[in-house]
Amino acid sequence: MLLPAQIIQKKRDGNALTEEEIRFFINGFTRGELPDYQMSALAMAICFQGMNFDETMWLTRAMIQSGKIVVWRKTSAQVPKGPRALKAGDSGTHAPGHSATSFYADKHSTGGIGDKTSLIIAPLVAACGVKVPMISGRGLGPTGGTLDKLESISGFNVNLPLDEFQRITDNVGACMIGQTAEIAPADKKLYALRDVTATVSCLSLIVGSIMCKKLAENVDGLVLDVKWGSGAFMRTRESSAELARAMVEVGKRYGKKVCALQTDMNQPLGQMIGNALEVRECIEIMTSNAGVSTANQTKGAGTAATPSDLVEVTLALAAEMLLMSGVAKNVADARQMLHKKLASGEALRKFAEMIRAQGGDAKVCEDVTRLPAAKHTRPIAAPKSGFVQSIECDQIGYAVIALGGGRKVSTDKIDLGAGFEQPKKIGDPVKAGEALMVMHYNDATRAVEAERMVQQAYRIGDGPVARLPLIVQKIE
Ligand code: URA
Repeated sequence: MLLPAQIIQKKRDGNALTEEEIRFFINGFTRGELPDYQMSALAMAICFQGMNFDETMWLTRAMIQSGKIVVWRKTSAQVPKGPRALKAGDSGTHAPGHSATSFYADKHSTGGIGDKTSLIIAPLVAACGVKVPMISGRGLGPTGGTLDKLESISGFNVNLPLDEFQRITDNVGACMIGQTAEIAPADKKLYALRDVTATVSCLSLIVGSIMCKKLAENVDGLVLDVKWGSGAFMRTRESSAELARAMVEVGKRYGKKVCALQTDMNQPLGQMIGNALEVRECIEIMTSNAGVSTANQTKGAGTAATPSDLVEVTLALAAEMLLMSGVAKNVADARQMLHKKLASGEALRKFAEMIRAQGGDAKVCEDVTRLPAAKHTRPIAAPKSGFVQSIECDQIGYAVIALGGGRKVSTDKIDLGAGFEQPKKIGDPVKAGEALMVMHYNDATRAVEAERMVQQAYRIGDGPVARLPLIVQKIE
């Protein structure tokens, strides 16, 4: 067996690692036997040199096996047997015969700005009778983290023990937690390290990170939201499609139903960016009849006929989960069911039930003013008139961090109320002095820096531009 430094050197020089070498590194790092600096060096070498598909599978497997694999009540005979070889044309699907209520499904996004679909999808899909155990992450790079958003609900506990995670998923239908010392502990440590060592944007590390959580959850079905664009880790459609294909392949080799929707992240999703603001937007959508606008609703949340970008992506991902589970026969059927659960208030009630079960203040669902809010708001003025041509969307995420709404170092405490609302989108006309978005802030000095970043992120030009497709393709 090579020394850790020799393994790093091997990857640095562009050679493939063996399964044993990858497992040695992941286990040593998880147990605290290998220091952060050696893991960081290996992660950086992987970023530069990449991994082949076998190495990526071994990395994922080592990360899954760093902790426990959930055994669901109905699944005693269905614990993942580990990866298997796939034959051409194999869909990787389970044998038919799942009843709706015994199907466990999850969705995971590769991360974006204002990307909050999980907060609606978990309760909404659970309200349709599918169990949704969801292990999420904190903010990563410029992208927001579901766990940070949930923690803006007073008392909400994302650090539950495994048996509690299972109990709430089975009793309530949905439970949202983070990686723990029991489930995916390797990712818990590596995720935090990658965030502060510029080693996030790397196909194999993303596959390992996402798929180890989802395979340790042991769900039957997984829908992936793979983003592309200026606010995503994959900047081009091609690289994001490659990431999607790799994750789908890994999932199928574990016998899961899995598909990916490739979606746009060249501009913030929805109308709010920032932890508590994003929870507020989701509650308002779930309050307002399937995304139908009402007078007191967040501007732009959309209508059932012309849903906002956030509602559209949410419904598309949730519909895939219902299709996989067999609860819906086709997309139209699924969307109708989802609209009904939103309109009847069942999705919101399920969200409140989950919040209560996880120790949080469920009254936020009736009164969003119970969420943390920044002391000040002010519009950020457009420097010139024209049409929004493009947005450096990652800079909006970094502006949230500049306001204190994300971490510069892993020990930073987050300002949960800070963020932005009502961003101008690509193609929108704008007049000089008009608001590009509204900033929510507590610290005036930080606000000056964030304002500058937002103004510089927008490219405004003379002519109108075509809008980009929100959902590019489905990859199965
Ligand atoms: N989400 C994750 O869980 N991990 C990544 O590496 C990127 C997005």
